[in-house]
Amino acid sequence: MSNFKLKATHAPVKAYYETLERFGRGKFDNEGNVRRAFEALLEKCARSYEWMVVPEYQIARTGKNPLRVDAAVLDAFNLPRGYWEAKDEKDDLRAEMNKKFTAGYPRTNILFQKPTEAILCQDGREVFKGKIETAEKLVEVLRLFFEWRQPVHEEWERAVREFQERIPEIAKGAMKLIEGERKTNPAFVASFTAFAELCRESINPDLKDEAVEEMLVQHLLTERIFRRIFDNPEFTRRNVIAAEIEKVIDSLTKRQFSRDTFLRDLDPFYKAIEEAAATAGDYSGKQKFLNKVYETFFQGFSKKQADTHGIVYTPQPIVDFIVRSVEEVLKAEFGKTLGDKDVHILDPFVGTGNFITRIMQEIKTSSLPQKYKEELHCNEVMLLPYYIASMNIEHEYLAKVDEYEPFEGICLVDTFETLGQSSFFNSANTERVVRQSMAPIRIVVGNPPYNMGQDSEEDQNRNRRYTKPGQVDKRIAATYSKDSKATLKNKLGDPYVKAIRWASDRVKDTGIVCFVTNNKFISGIAFDGMRRHLARDFNLILHLNCKGNANTAGERRQREGGNIFNNQIKVGVGITLLLKNPSRTGCLIKIMEVEDYQGAKEKTELLGKYGSFGHMPLQNVKPDQAFNWLEGGNQEDFNALFSLVGKEGIFLSSAPGVNTARDAYLSNYSADILVVQIRKMTKAYLQTLGEYEAERPENIESFTDNHDVRIKWSPLLWRRLKALSKITVAPACIRSYQYRPFAVRTFYQDRFWIERPGMLTKCFPNVDSENLVIALTGNGVTCGFFAIACGLPVDFHLTGDSQCFPFYTYDEDGTNRRENITDWALAEFRAHYGDKKISKWDIFHYTYGLLHHPEYRTRYAANLKRELPRIPMAAEFRRFAEIGAALMKLHIEYEKQKEYPLERRETGKLNWRVEKMALSKDKSQLRYNEFLTLSGIPAEAQEYRLGNRSALEWVVDQYRVSTDARSGIVNDPNREDDPEYIVRLVGQVVTVSVETVRLVREMAGLGIEQV
Ligand SMILES: C[S@@+](CC[C@H](N)C(=O)[O-])C[C@H]1O[C@@H](n2cnc3c(N)ncnc32)[C@H](O)[C@@H]1O
Repeated sequence: MSNFKLKATHAPVKAYYETLERFGRGKFDNEGNVRRAFEALLEKCARSYEWMVVPEYQIARTGKNPLRVDAAVLDAFNLPRGYWEAKDEKDDLRAEMNKKFTAGYPRTNILFQKPTEAILCQDGREVFKGKIETAEKLVEVLRLFFEWRQPVHEEWERAVREFQERIPEIAKGAMKLIEGERKTNPAFVASFTAFAELCRESINPDLKDEAVEEMLVQHLLTERIFRRIFDNPEFTRRNVIAAEIEKVIDSLTKRQFSRDTFLRDLDPFYKAIEEAAATAGDYSGKQKFLNKVYETFFQGFSKKQADTHGIVYTPQPIVDFIVRSVEEVLKAEFGKTLGDKDVHILDPFVGTGNFITRIMQEIKTSSLPQKYKEELHCNEVMLLPYYIASMNIEHEYLAKVDEYEPFEGICLVDTFETLGQSSFFNSANTERVVRQSMAPIRIVVGNPPYNMGQDSEEDQNRNRRYTKPGQVDKRIAATYSKDSKATLKNKLGDPYVKAIRWASDRVKDTGIVCFVTNNKFISGIAFDGMRRHLARDFNLILHLNCKGNANTAGERRQREGGNIFNNQIKVGVGITLLLKNPSRTGCLIKIMEVEDYQGAKEKTELLGKYGSFGHMPLQNVKPDQAFNWLEGGNQEDFNALFSLVGKEGIFLSSAPGVNTARDAYLSNYSADILVVQIRKMTKAYLQTLGEYEAERPENIESFTDNHDVRIKWSPLLWRRLKALSKITVAPACIRSYQYRPFAVRTFYQDRFWIERPGMLTKCFPNVDSENLVIALTGNGVTCGFFAIACGLPVDFHLTGDSQCFPFYTYDEDGTNRRENITDWALAEFRAHYGDKKISKWDIFHYTYGLLHHPEYRTRYAANLKRELPRIPMAAEFRRFAEIGAALMKLHIEYEKQKEYPLERRETGKLNWRVEKMALSKDKSQLRYNEFLTLSGIPAEAQEYRLGNRSALEWVVDQYRVSTDARSGIVNDPNREDDPEYIVRLVGQVVTVSVETVRLVREMAGLGIEQV
């Protein structure tokens, strides 16, 4: 019997028409009231299904921003049954609908409605279109909307696509079922607690309950797929881990008639795929589906895990290339094949198992039973891929040998822990780990995890540390880190570095490691020690630099080209083969780089074209003094120049820019918005503090509401909470802040909220502290070296990982101001030039001038990428110092410069407000807004560059109205008190550019040779 109870005579229907009529008369009501009346209708219908209407509903999407619909109708498990988009009477409903579909809105069951008309779209088809001016029509469209059920798709491909999109919802539904049982089912609570304990003992001591719940979701999801789609009901009995988890799942579903009854509410999501599976034919189609489940589950539902564990499927051409290359080197160096006895092979990060299955294809069928039983090994730390890999590998065996044999070479374990503990989940798994640890592994292949995000330090996705004696972090500290000259070495904490370190040790003195990883280590400054050790540990290193780093901008970004992970990841990628052969001495390094600008497809084709390293035109590389393999061009004479910082350097100390970890909350163009925001954040903090004091939960990170948009929690604030620190709002903390070049914002300088105060502590400890600093691009930053002088606190991203060199330093309490140019430097400069009048200010200006010298920047470009600048004592000290002082004044006092005489073309009404400015293609014109276009911008405005942008491009980029996605905070650069500020600034920054270029050209005539 249908639950749809609405009739044309019901009160909400009448109320709708009454509101419509009032609106039509245009007297008292507005369109918003019609909207609310329609929403009331939806609510009335939803109630009889025990569903609810959720306004402003966000639809999560894998790898994309969520979409927002006006409302969604959700069932008891929060699963959406339909979506509603309300439009205004004047809107063209069809055009609006098409716009939404183009933007990616779902077509399953979505109702577009305006006061008098509706279009209902179901499964991509329009099932209703027309006027709803009569009650019967209105009820008809609502009936269709509420009575819609998930259709059964005949074709597999379409069902797969749809299922994939719905995985996050399914996972959420399953999570809700589990959470419900944790509140009401004592038998489950007991087994859950015991299971969580077991997981902590054997997988990760810091594992949170939420992660354990996720693990059960992974089990439920895959178990059902295996049972119903792969027709493999025995999987959970045969798999040593699944059998264990089944016990917990049994207690979870005990109160239901059967497992399927428990999951019944998820049926609509599964149905289509399950029925279509019958048409899917062979295993390979289903296997592709399974691999999609792997990525979508983690990236759409379990994003945190996807980021820390690097969950992304390795494209088959990469797997083929690696397996062929290893086979080739194995043969050439040791006269063996992958199928030979005693060649133990390990994939420590197995994912869906594609390296192992590919290797199995390479091995002769007659050799496979022995290899499969004894010499193929792999590890996986997450349950879902562990199951998928088991299933895929076992299927590959079945297909080749025609016999089912459980695969005992797979362990559910954290690879980096295999040394550090004795119990791994259950006895069967422990036995396997022990067996693997004893095996003489010769080959290690795979795709190790790497931080996919921007290794932002503020988020919670901290990499796990392995610091017991002999564990990988200790090994890195004793080798790669110890022998690095870099100041910032945190990049050595990336899991792919751990993987390389771990595998280098694992093959002992003979073997091959071949990984596809982040390629940063071949050129990054922090990796000098790592490169040195790799060249010591191995006898042959082959590397294919596939580029594809999307975390760069402008021309550099274009040069990096596409990413061979089908553009799914943002880091640059490389494939590296490392060989240890005791009969060789020394280390031969051979590298090939794909060409610049190549797309992902061309790069992938290249892998196919060459097939393996053996067929590639590799270049021999001779590492330089700093163990660089790539990007030669380092000038050896650089080391003879003056250090910029240190007791025997120009500055006594330097400090990084301010890293707030919550820029949108602590800085804004408007002081008023800033104060409102600070009040909200303080309130949210104090509220949580009260709750924290009352509850004192053990796990503070999951205690705080990390989705609360009023505040952004982070390790600093958790520490504050733990310490029960209180805070009040202090408007006196507001000051100006150099956020980006030529973009100053108001800033709330209260260290309570600032994750890493960096230079604040010693350069601007108090709101009224005065100072001048030279901010430089930190080393390792790819945007190109530049320097800018500022008289305000400097944001960490002002110059790209900014390092600041202040003229003064202070004690933390703001007292004891002293000069930061060393006495040592003063004496050196005076003696060198025989000029006692040289002052510390002169040295400060000299340095700033020299850092702008074009020849200095090109000659030492490679050095400047890796190290802080070093300073030559050039012949014309005084001229450099004078030009440096002029540049400094120009850059600090940019708001005092005369406006460059740009031509103004005005149309329509006077309007100074900027939403978003745009430069013309040839950069000679600027569209300021609808009212104003500025032309006649001189070429010099492009010539003065600060990293990837010219000064003017920084202004265009920074002075626009924007809304922070997380907090919803609006940042509007327009000034009520000074409406022409931005147009004036444009003219002033053009002047600054023209003048800078003039001074730099003048300086270009001065030699930079050390005299
Ligand atoms: C890049 S994926 C591997 C992809 C795999 N080659 C595929 O295409 O399916 C890395 C895998 O390693 C697993 N992993 C991450 N850290 C691990 C660790 N410490 N020990 C074992 N497995 C780990 C992740 O869960 C993930 O499945």
